Amino acid sequence: MEQVNVGIIGLGNVGSGTMAILAENGEQIDLKLGFRLRVKAVCSEHTEQKKIPEALGPVLKTNDWRQLVSHPDLHIIVELVGGTQVAAEIVNTAIANKKSVVTANKELMASSGAELWDRAIAARTNLAMEASVAGGIPIHAVLREGISGDRIVALYGILNGTSNYILTSMEKRGTPFETVLAEAQRLGYAEADPSNDIDGIDARSKLAILSALAFGEKITPSDIFTEGIRRIGPVDFEYAHRLGHTIRLLCAARQTEDGLVLSVRPALISTSTILASVQGSYNAVWVKGHFGEDTFYYGRGAGPLPTGVAVVSDLMRVAREIRDGSPERVSPFAHKRLGIYKPIPVARQKRAYYLRFRVMDREGIISALAGILAAKHISLDAVLQVPSENKRDLPFVITLEPTTEQAVRQAVEEMSRLDFLLEPPLALPIEPPL
Ligand SMILES: NC(=O)c1ccc[n+]([C@@H]2O[C@H](COP(=O)([O-])OP(=O)(O)OC[C@H]3O[C@@H](n4cnc5c(N)ncnc54)[C@H](OP(=O)(O)O)[C@@H]3O)[C@@H](O)[C@H]2O)c1
Repeated sequence: MEQVNVGIIGLGNVGSGTMAILAENGEQIDLKLGFRLRVKAVCSEHTEQKKIPEALGPVLKTNDWRQLVSHPDLHIIVELVGGTQVAAEIVNTAIANKKSVVTANKELMASSGAELWDRAIAARTNLAMEASVAGGIPIHAVLREGISGDRIVALYGILNGTSNYILTSMEKRGTPFETVLAEAQRLGYAEADPSNDIDGIDARSKLAILSALAFGEKITPSDIFTEGIRRIGPVDFEYAHRLGHTIRLLCAARQTEDGLVLSVRPALISTSTILASVQGSYNAVWVKGHFGEDTFYYGRGAGPLPTGVAVVSDLMRVAREIRDGSPERVSPFAHKRLGIYKPIPVARQKRAYYLRFRVMDREGIISALAGILAAKHISLDAVLQVPSENKRDLPFVITLEPTTEQAVRQAVEEMSRLDFLLEPPLALPIEPPL
């Protein structure tokens, strides 16, 4: 085979970044491979409006993805459409037509990656998805190859750049959530409908994929407790700092004696932990192995070029395998459930907690709250209150000694009925030193 031919479907952010890299870096890519990797066809909904880099040479342009997945000359189909409808059809049809597939689609891979892999194995084709999690960080290769010999005990991540941008901006400038969100939307860091990012849904798909790779279990998004960042305000950073902590949307998969606890939620983490220094739209993944201990990976979580690098690198690996006749037909979702990593409800985890209240000031508030905690055998650790003039909307914080999440939830539910509260208490776990 003289060259390996590629068809790209989806010419938006990632598609244009991928084409730009293949055009600008094509010579070096071919030298590294020892053969030619050539884009022969491209497709998007409005292909006529797209600028295709001249350096790619003559390219078939179409608006019909079916033309690409059935094209006899194409060896690899790149799916960069996103979502789970058309994208699933593209990937399934490509595999059925014995094409290998490279995708950046976290949603599709989190929801049906295992089934797609089974189909790809049966069809003796390859499926690559490095770009689907943490765009510019080659974390799949790390988990599948680099540290696959270790027994992973925990994986922590900051996997959503939009939430991290919002939280770190709020932290730096003390600006309210809504203002920072509007600014992020103006700058193109957050979408018009930001819920996927700020409600933790995007991060949940990514954690589902990474924990499946790390623990060799079948993990689906529904196994992951998910809570977004809408309720976090500058006041929470003020209190968190007083406690020597900061707040991040933390993706966590932890092995405990009872099973695997999976969550995406805002949590207090110590300011001395390396994850606390992950600022703006950057992503990071921290893996703890039983044998090799800690490793840390950091980089751009998204963007046309960093994500494009992941797509092009996948293309190079798959192209090598096609050329040398050794497709890597082992599903990364290689889960015959190992049992020890069985997901368990987050309600069973034991943690210290941060409870933030907004109250109409009056006598007896602390004793009413302390009474509820005592009745649930929860030990109060400290009460913090920064000076405030506004007695009609007074924020303060109670921290709790380690206790089960179940007990905290019950206490919060009971507290929510108290008439001096302006809103239900905000409960965040305080992570022990990571
Ligand atoms: N953006 C990032 O930084 C990033 C990072 C990591 C992973 N990802 C993932 O990468 C994938 C693509 O994201 P993106 O940001 O590049 O999305 P995008 O900018 O919205 O691009 C999507 C592309 O798909 C095309 N498309 C939509 N429906 C189509 C159809 N029926 N047939 C053919 N083409 C169709 C669109 O065509 P038109 O442009 O012609 O309308 C567009 O070019 C998603 O799975 C996303 O989760 C993105």
